[in-house]
Amino acid sequence: MSNLVTIKRKINNFNKVINVSGDKSISIRWVLFSSLAKGNSKAKNLLMSEDVLAAITAVKKLGIKVHVSRNECVVYGKGFDGYNYKKNLTINAENSGTLGRLILGLLINTSNPIKLIGDKSLSKRDFSRISKPLSKFGAKFILRKSKSLPLVILGSSNLKPFKYFENRGSAQCKSSVIFGGMRTNGTTVIKAKKSRNHTELLCRHLKLPIIVKNKKNYDEILIKKVNEIKPLNYKIPGDISSSAFFIVLTALLTDSKLIIKDVNINPSRIGIIIILKKMGVNFIFKNKRIYKGEKIADIKIKSPKTLKAINCPTKLNSGAIDEFLIIFLVAAKAKGISYFKNLDELNQKESPRLEWGKYILNQMGVKSITTKSSIKIYGNPKLNINKQIIIKNYLKDHRVFMTSVIAALSFGGKWKIHDKDSIKTSFPNFLKIINSLKDSD
Ligand code: S3P
Repeated sequence: MSNLVTIKRKINNFNKVINVSGDKSISIRWVLFSSLAKGNSKAKNLLMSEDVLAAITAVKKLGIKVHVSRNECVVYGKGFDGYNYKKNLTINAENSGTLGRLILGLLINTSNPIKLIGDKSLSKRDFSRISKPLSKFGAKFILRKSKSLPLVILGSSNLKPFKYFENRGSAQCKSSVIFGGMRTNGTTVIKAKKSRNHTELLCRHLKLPIIVKNKKNYDEILIKKVNEIKPLNYKIPGDISSSAFFIVLTALLTDSKLIIKDVNINPSRIGIIIILKKMGVNFIFKNKRIYKGEKIADIKIKSPKTLKAINCPTKLNSGAIDEFLIIFLVAAKAKGISYFKNLDELNQKESPRLEWGKYILNQMGVKSITTKSSIKIYGNPKLNINKQIIIKNYLKDHRVFMTSVIAALSFGGKWKIHDKDSIKTSFPNFLKIINSLKDSD
């Protein structure tokens, strides 16, 4: 099948109920925590994407049996010190920054060097942000001058706790150091800028010796050595980052309604909802509940009459960090100039996303002004595209692909979007759900 998607027509209005696939951050964390548990852990609705399959392959290489079937995934954990692997091990994190960074925290006590590699996109990303703090425990790293993969981790049997200031708002760095602290005698202390807190919630659910003190602008996390983790049965909720594409599609249409069932609405992840509310989009959360510490709800959304520009408060950045490309499309249709700032981290993702945001807007005929860390978008409520747009060579960043599809369906034009396979990393069902929105009721 061709890897090129051509879209020539806007989508018609719809009134639908959909489900999105399991949350990627929680799926990867579930695989890692379960690989440390004593006994069998089962997951339902685990995201079956390449990033999660890479996590499964990684723990298998560490000697942990995993069985994947259509409805369920089982990890046969052998306990907190149950990893057992051959010398000269190489782990391939493929496209996943989350896997690559988190797993290093679990390997800081390895007695054999382990090599970490990734695909072309991951091999361009900064790993010194994680080798630096993990070195403070006593692990050593052989890292290229460019601070990127491949790297080799040399563990230590004499780990020391330390105090870590996480000031990027990176949940990957925070979580990796939490994992490192779980392997280390004494108390590791993290003072972390706010970011997604799935790791902390799982620690609390598993009753691990980890204390989180939520302060106004940061969290203080105290971690003691873990001896045992109980099996973790989990039904993974829908991913808000995957939902984001359908939320924005509904927001950009004139008369559509959508319900997305069973979505994780963890307050550290719903930046997109808060931002779009400020831009004039109405949301209703229905069936709200708490599951193992995570908030879940059905999200109900209706196309707004008008969209307002936003001067986006930077405190919302971390909760929307994966959603900015798609939020930029809303700004493209909003009345006025929207401004998003302090977004240096966006260029640290699977592709330099601030640059790709500018590129896509430019192709759409929308004026924007960018700096290294900010973008001003000159919205046009009457935006309608009539030209041909080609999107390619974007390091197969799944979110560039999906954002382009939503832009094509919302604003028109003739789009040729390459590398459809990019969606396999996070959301293999994406185009299937798009097609289901096209079906008449
Ligand atoms: C993630 C954290 C974020 C996010 C990524 C998933 C996680 O990265 O962009 O998609 O699961 O911890 P950073 O920690 O680099 O901000």
